[in-house]
Amino acid sequence: MPDLSGRTTTAASAGGQAAKVPAPAAAKAVTRDPDDTSPLLTRRAWLGLAWGAFSAASAAALAATGRFMFPNVLNEPPQQFKVGFPNEYGMGVDERWKEKYGIWLVRTPDDIDQHASGFYALISVCTHLGCTPNYLSAENKFKCPCHGSGFRLTGVNFEGPAPRPLERARVVMADDGQILVDKSRKFQRELGQWTDPEAFLKV
Ligand code: FES
Repeated sequence: MPDLSGRTTTAASAGGQAAKVPAPAAAKAVTRDPDDTSPLLTRRAWLGLAWGAFSAASAAALAATGRFMFPNVLNEPPQQFKVGFPNEYGMGVDERWKEKYGIWLVRTPDDIDQHASGFYALISVCTHLGCTPNYLSAENKFKCPCHGSGFRLTGVNFEGPAPRPLERARVVMADDGQILVDKSRKFQRELGQWTDPEAFLKV
């Protein structure tokens, strides 16, 4: 029987039997408006995204830990090294160790401070701001390309802004008769250290 709003309701018949009521119409299938661009992610999709982000963050943390456990190794040249036998050298500047060890080995017939013949090892670092000078054989000097400082073959500065001579490294004879250079010990002329017995190898 329709009520005041027109809907049909179940009503008991006079004999106690329920009157037949028409079944409600089947729910209409939900269709998405083709113009609707709003996101439509299911719960499963959200879970997948969350797991993906968690996995990426975990992998990044693991990689960072790995880098911490295995830091970059700085391969610095050794401070002590043998450079061969004295008879392998002529007089003057030998350049073969500059690239590898950062020194020039110089053989002189008469050192300015030791007053003897032998070897000294000049460290190839400019005493101005640390550039690497070049050996100019035609001009018998070392010349720094950065600001023009010049050094004599002894290592003493004579032009440009360098405030002091090049430094010399310890040089001694090894047990096997080779020349041993030790850059962990340096000698500065302005401190009177070029007279030290290990600042010069008498040969
Ligand atoms: S660094 Fe050598 S002259 Fe300045």
